[in-house]
Amino acid sequence: MSGSLLVDNIGELVTNGAGEGPLGIRRKAAVLVEEGRVVWVGPSAYAPAADHHVDAGGAAVLPGFVDSHAHLVFAGDRAAEFAARMAGQPYTGGGIRTTVGATRAATDEELRATVRRLRGEALRQGTTTMEIKSGYGLTVADEARSLRIAAETSTETTFLGAHVVPAEYADRPDDYVGLVCGPMLAAAAPYAKWIDVFCERGAFDVDHARAILACGQAAGLGVRLHANQLGPGPGVQLGVELDAASVDHCTHLSDADVAALADTAHGDGSGTRTVATLLPGAEFSTRSPYPDARRLLDAGVTVALATDCNPGSSYTSSMPFCVALAVREMRMTPAEAVWAATAGGARALRRDDIGVVTPGARADLVVLDAPSYLHLAYRPGVPLIRQVIRNGVPQ
Ligand code: NIG
Ligand code: FE
Repeated sequence: MSGSLLVDNIGELVTNGAGEGPLGIRRKAAVLVEEGRVVWVGPSAYAPAADHHVDAGGAAVLPGFVDSHAHLVFAGDRAAEFAARMAGQPYTGGGIRTTVGATRAATDEELRATVRRLRGEALRQGTTTMEIKSGYGLTVADEARSLRIAAETSTETTFLGAHVVPAEYADRPDDYVGLVCGPMLAAAAPYAKWIDVFCERGAFDVDHARAILACGQAAGLGVRLHANQLGPGPGVQLGVELDAASVDHCTHLSDADVAALADTAHGDGSGTRTVATLLPGAEFSTRSPYPDARRLLDAGVTVALATDCNPGSSYTSSMPFCVALAVREMRMTPAEAVWAATAGGARALRRDDIGVVTPGARADLVVLDAPSYLHLAYRPGVPLIRQVIRNGVPQ
C-alpha cells in the first residue's frame, strides 16, 4: 500500500510505551503510519490528514501479537493421541516421532500449504509476528527443507534438529548429536536465526543440549530452548548460562531456577535478558498443571506468552486463547497477559521494533471488536479481532 494510513477514533490504545499503567494506555487516540512504520501517536482530535483511513469506531487497538514459539512445519495430525490423553493417557513427547514419519513422507508443497494455513489462521487472530521451528524432519535434508519453507513465511526461524533422537539413532544418541552439530547445522544455518533444543528426560540431556547450543552459537545463531516442561531439570539454568533469549515452557521450576532467571535482570528496571516464555496451550492440551506465572512475575522475571502451535501438545494458533488461559489459570492479570503476548514475545525474540505502538515501531496493529483489551480474557472463545494491520498494510 502506498501513502500514509491513519487509524483514528481509538477508544483505548495499548502502546506498551508511554501512557497510563503498565500497558501505556492512551484514550481517544490515533496512530499515523508511513512506509510500514508508526510515525505519530496522539489524540484523535489532533490527528494529521493521511492518504488512507481506518476508523476504529471507539474500539480498542493493541500491538499485533508476537507468537515467539510455534512448530508449523509438519504433516498429519495427532487427534487420536489427544483423544487418548483426554481418556487418561499421559503426554510423554513420544508422539513427536509419529509426526516425524509423516513429515518426512510429505512433499514440499504439502508442508508449505500447512505453514500457510496455520500462519493465516494466526494472522486472523491478531498474530503479526510468528516464530517458526523445524524439528519434525530430523535428517539433514528434511531439517534444511523445513527451515527453507519456514523462512518463506517468517524471519524468526529456529533450527530444532534436537527435538528428539529419531528412531534410527535410538541406540546411538551421541552419533545423532554429532550429526546435528555437523552437517545438519551447516545445512540449516543459512535459513535459521535461532537454535533450540528440547532439553528434557526422554529427549536431550544437559550435556548434549549444551554441546548443540554451543555449536549453534558458534554458527551465529541465537539460543532459545525447551526446558522444564515435563519435570524439573537443568534446562532453565543452562539457558541462563548460555544467555538464551528465552527458556520456554518453565512448568516445573525450582527456587534456584527462578533466581537464576531473575539474576539476568538488565538492572534498569526493563526486565530480564532471558525471558520465561509460558505456553499454556500445552498444559491445556496435555491436561497438565499450568506454570506459575505469578511466581516468575513476582521475582521480576520477564514473561512472554506463546502458542507452541504443534500437532501434538498444543494444536492452537490462537494468542487470544493463550491470554485467556493465562489470566484464568495462571494468575496473570489481563494487563500482564496482554503485555506478555505482545511486548513480552518481542523481548523473547530480542526485538524492540515490534510489540509496541510507538513512533519508529513496525506498524502492526490489531483493532478489537471490543472497547477494551480486558475483553480478550473476559470474553474467551469469541472472535474479537476485527481488523489486523501488518507492516502498515490492512490485511
Ligand atoms: O513444545 N516439547 C517438545 N516439543 C513440542 C511438542 C511436540 C509434539 O508433541 O509434537 C512442545 O510441546
Ligand atoms: Fe514447543
